[in-house]
Amino acid sequence: MSADAKPKGIAILGSTGSIGCNTLRVVESLGSERFRVVALGAGRNVEVLADQIATHLPPLVSVDSEAAAHDLRARLFARDVDLPRIVIGEAGLIEVATHAQADCVVSATVGAVGFVPTLRALEAGKRVALANKETLVMAGELMTRAARASGAELLPVDSEHNALHQCLRGEKSAEVRRIILTASGGPFRTKTRAQMQESTVSEALRHPTWNMGAKITIDSATLMNKGLEVIEAHWLFGFLPDQIDIVVHPESVVHSMIELVDGSVMAQMGVTDMRHAIQYALTYPDRQPSGLPPLDLNALSALHFEPPDTVRFPCIALAYRALREGGTLPAAMNAANEEAVQAFIEERITLTDIPQVIEAVMDRHQTQPATELTTILEADRSARSAAADEIRKATKPASLLA
Ligand SMILES: NC(=O)c1ccc[n+]([C@@H]2O[C@H](COP(=O)([O-])OP(=O)(O)OC[C@H]3O[C@@H](n4cnc5c(N)ncnc54)[C@H](OP(=O)(O)O)[C@@H]3O)[C@@H](O)[C@H]2O)c1
Repeated sequence: MSADAKPKGIAILGSTGSIGCNTLRVVESLGSERFRVVALGAGRNVEVLADQIATHLPPLVSVDSEAAAHDLRARLFARDVDLPRIVIGEAGLIEVATHAQADCVVSATVGAVGFVPTLRALEAGKRVALANKETLVMAGELMTRAARASGAELLPVDSEHNALHQCLRGEKSAEVRRIILTASGGPFRTKTRAQMQESTVSEALRHPTWNMGAKITIDSATLMNKGLEVIEAHWLFGFLPDQIDIVVHPESVVHSMIELVDGSVMAQMGVTDMRHAIQYALTYPDRQPSGLPPLDLNALSALHFEPPDTVRFPCIALAYRALREGGTLPAAMNAANEEAVQAFIEERITLTDIPQVIEAVMDRHQTQPATELTTILEADRSARSAAADEIRKATKPASLLA
């Protein structure tokens, strides 16, 4: 880095979440001469947000309501921290995503809430380090078109896609036969369908290898996370559904692989710490020492690989179906999944109801071309309403709950 290079401005959507907090740890470890936090977007966790503001002093922050803003101001005042400008709701997240001093926007809110802000960041020509995969699932065509038009870079933070990005560096895409996403298999990899049906929320939240937010952890338990990643991989790298495969790899050491036309397979390996992928997306095309412990190959007794069980985990087939049919169907599938996961977390439906709700919503959905923002938002809205119906049908009446 030359002595007169200015630090890069970083904006984070979802700064208080698992990826957001890890991003700030990466920024701290890389040092203030490289990166400066210029804007933070969060929802309701003002306690963590206040700590982040006190440490990084961003000029702009966003929270999801006036009540949260009020609470945040009081906390900062009590700590004698200079108040940043505080903005609210989706409009606030959009201000964070398009902040004039932001060179890179880390998109790490969860679910559809990050969609329009991430799109606006791409339209504004920012580098987007994307964790929030749901945004690409909803509107891959729109987002990649916006990136092409503005010249924005879209770099994956999801560990599998980050691994693929690393494996694909320097390879000609015509020489890549297929890409192979690895999946840990989640907490129910070895359980029967009956055991899955009986599973509690806390069992589903116990991920064997990664420590993540609640929604992605439930998605990992149903393997919908891998389904979302198949669609994400299509939009990031341009491979067709038949060229995107999944292999279950319980140790989560190989983060993903590519297979070349001559039969060579290239894998990216590493410890299960999201800070590797986040740092790669921030510093690309350069690499910097990370300070994280290296992968200890001698401590690995074995690595296992097995095909996914698409009968016990029907979400995988639903995602391939959505990708093949295209248009607004992936947005509808994503919305139905978000609603069903929330209903499961609130103990209104069982884990095995989740794919049933999604499939019923997909069957009801009238697919449209997904080239306009309004059409995608309408697909999201109508699928949520259809999902609410299906969840109501699946919900056990209180009188039947033991
Ligand atoms: N965690 C991982 O290791 C991992 C790995 C790969 C990909 N991803 C993807 O990265 C994304 C984030 O995952 P995560 O695990 O970091 O989730 P998380 O821990 O649940 O964090 C979600 C973040 O989004 C914010 N948020 C939620 N609703 C909001 C709203 N209405 N307005 C503004 N902000 C809102 C939350 O704010 P408050 O907490 O302040 O309310 C929090 O900062 C997901 O799309 C996930 O699939 C995560």
